[in-house]
This record gives sequence, C-alpha cells and structure tokens, in this order.
Amino acid sequence: MKKLYIETLGCAMNVRDSEHIIAELTKRDSFQLTEEIQEADLILINTCSVREKPVHKLFSEIGYFNKVKKPGAKIGVCGCTASHLGEEIIRRAPYVSFVLGARNVSKIREVIHREGAVEVDLDHDESQYAFEEFRSSPYRAYINISIGCDKQCTFCIVPHTRGEEISIPPELIVAEAQKAARNGAKEIFLLGQNVNNYGRRFTDRDRRIDFTDLLRMVAQIDEVARIRFTSPHPLHMDDRFLEEFATNPKICKSMHMPLQSGSSRILRRMKRGYTKEWFLERAARLREMAPGVRISTDIIVGFPGEEESDFEETLDVVRQVGFEQIFSFKYSPRPLTPAKDYPDQVPEEVASRRLSQLQELHAQMLDAIAAREKGKVHQVYFEELKPGGYVAGRSDNNWIVKVPGSEELLGQFRQVKITKPGRLALEGVVVG
Ligand code: 5AD
Ligand code: SF4
Repeated sequence: MKKLYIETLGCAMNVRDSEHIIAELTKRDSFQLTEEIQEADLILINTCSVREKPVHKLFSEIGYFNKVKKPGAKIGVCGCTASHLGEEIIRRAPYVSFVLGARNVSKIREVIHREGAVEVDLDHDESQYAFEEFRSSPYRAYINISIGCDKQCTFCIVPHTRGEEISIPPELIVAEAQKAARNGAKEIFLLGQNVNNYGRRFTDRDRRIDFTDLLRMVAQIDEVARIRFTSPHPLHMDDRFLEEFATNPKICKSMHMPLQSGSSRILRRMKRGYTKEWFLERAARLREMAPGVRISTDIIVGFPGEEESDFEETLDVVRQVGFEQIFSFKYSPRPLTPAKDYPDQVPEEVASRRLSQLQELHAQMLDAIAAREKGKVHQVYFEELKPGGYVAGRSDNNWIVKVPGSEELLGQFRQVKITKPGRLALEGVVVG
C-alpha cells in the first residue's frame, strides 16, 4: 500500500477538490491516506492564492516537507497557487515532482507518474466531472455546481486560477446529492465561486435553468434534510431567489453576502456591480423575508484609494446590517489583477489599523448578537465530538452549538436550548 498525505488550504472548493484527489488516488489507485508526513510516499499540498501570505508560506512549507519526507517520496503542488505560478514552482523548488492546477484535478492519477509535469490549463469538458467518491464527513456532502468565475472583481485572482465559469448539469448534481443523502449525509452543501449565477455555460447551450430551480430540485430529494451553499454574490440576490431561500424549509437560513466595501466609490473601483444602498436594501429585504437568518460577509480594508470616509461607510454598513459573522482581510495586491497597478495603494499601517478597528467593532456587536440567543431553541445537526465530553453541530442558521454528550448524538437532529452564548459558539442542552 502506498501512503498519501494531503494538506488543504483555502476555501470549501479546495476541500472538495482534495476529496476528489483522495477519491481518485485511493479508489482508482492503491493509495491509503495517512496523517504522518514521514511515512507518506506522496505528499500533496492543495494551495490557495487569494492573498499573498499563504503563497509565501507555501515555499517554506514544501521545504519542510522535503526535509522530513522519506527517501523517494514525491511532493506535488495542487490548487490555485499551482494554477497561477505553474512551472515557477518547480524552478524555485526543484524537489517538487509535479504541479497540478485547480482546474486539472482529474489528471491527478496521471501526473504522479510524470516527473516535472505542469498541468495548469483552464479548459474544461464534462469528462472531468466523473470522479470516484470520497467524503471527509459522513454527515455533510460538498457538491460542486459550478467551476470558475466570470466576474472581474479588480482585486481577485480567482478567475485566473479557476478559469471561466461553467455550470455542472443539474442531473449530475441531483444524482450526487441523492447518493450522498442515502449514504447518510443529510446536509448537502452546494459549492461554486458564484453559486447564484448558476446556469451559465452548460455544455448544452440551450439549457435554461438557474440557481433557484436547482435549489428546488435538490430540495425534492426525500433523504436530504438540509441544503447549504456558498458563495452567493449579492448582485444576483433577486426577489425570486430570496423568496425561495426564505420559504423552502430545507434551505438553511444562513446567507453569505460578501460586502467587500461599504463605500459605493470603492465598490465601483472593485467592479462589484452594486452600491452601498443596493446592498443595504437587499440585506434588509433578506432579514424581512427570512426572520432569524444569520448573515455572514467578507470585507476587504485598505483597497487602493480607500479614504477614511470610505472606511467609515464600511463601518456604517456593518452597524446597519448587524452581520453575525465577518471574515475581514487587509487588501493584498495579487498578480494578474488590475487593482495591483492602481497608483493609490494604502499604506500598510493604515490598513492594519482599519482592520483592527473593524474587528473591534464587530467583537462588541457580537456580544449583543450572541446574547440574544440565550433561551432560544435551535435544531442542531450533530457532527463532531469535542474535548471535555461535548458534541458539536450547527443550527439551521449556522451557529456552532455544543452540548454535553457523546457519540450517540452524531448524525442526529436535536432541539437544543441555548444556555450560554459565546462569540464563536453557543452552548446548550438537548431538550427534544
Ligand atoms: N486581498 C484581500 N482579500 C481578498 N479577497 C479576495 N481577493 C483578495 C485580495 N486581493 C477576499 C475577498 C473574498 C474572500 C474569499 O477573500 O473578501 O470574498
Ligand atoms: Fe479558494 Fe480562491 Fe483560495 Fe482558490 S484562491 S483556494 S478559489 S479562496
């Protein structure tokens, strides 16, 4: 038996790509997963390139792999940084055996035998959907619905690493969801760079179906209890989609609405396609239609040209929407993106100060947001054992909830009354 060690960085798309890689190597080849680098015959790192820091870290990390690996073991670099750096990776780290881009996962069984292989093209055809199956969680199934991104946000490298957007045929998605749910994964997690733009570029060009239709199709599968998805784009949150989101009982009431900036001037420079007012109106509409919804967001501070007054607009949106979760980042100039050449880059100290200010504001707001949960009852789907005799899962609206308990709760849906709110997780007791 050959042993495979794989490290996954970045987003849920990468998690799914790693599952595909593991499936191909363990089911169609004779690898077995290991958690010990030292005993691996093949070491893979599935990389992210959305910000600069992890890219820097990649080279120190593979340098470490090279030091500790057993003689003859191969190192492969996969994912988004593989796509954008390509053969440069092998030039800088000659001990790397192959480079496999984010859109080339289906070639994994082949590249492991081709020393020096660099597979990073962005073409795509349907033969690449036919993966063997491996799921890292027995309770939740990630399913790709689209690949790539057609947006042109001026800060983002992803269109260059994952290519143009294509939609996976709905029959394949439904069949995959059906199979996973029958095998016990009651929660289906639909994935794409821009999920609510689903319907673009099917191989069959006459095909007309959108994300709302797809949600309805997946919800019709009896064994599916919950549907989640990421990431949607605020621009495509029309009333029809929000209506389906709000009224379909299987769709979890948790929405990611990546704001990026609260300043309409900065949003224009980012080419996001919406204004501050438009975003506020959609968020308010969402809260009105789906009471109890938890809204998360992504925010970039220090985008080129961001003045103090623009940053204040961002804080204003944060206060008005009351996001339950914020992923906040300092702008990081990326190769191949227009914004890296904008002349008015924001100094590092300014961006750092804004990031802390945003995070402090949100931390304070979170105390009040979490406190409101005390005494509420949530339906929790238990997925994970936690230290100290706890079991954790997620509420329908995506709070992490833990209760005292053991294995018998895993894979179960239970009513939980919240006794102790916290910023990161809520604690409670099973009441039904
Ligand atoms: N710098 C900082 N953050 C970025 N993101 C994307 N590109 C950049 C960049 N160049 C953030 C966005 C996106 C999230 C996945 O990462 O907020 O929504
Ligand atoms: Fe995911 Fe984007 Fe990172 Fe690629 S660059 S792994 S798509 S977050």
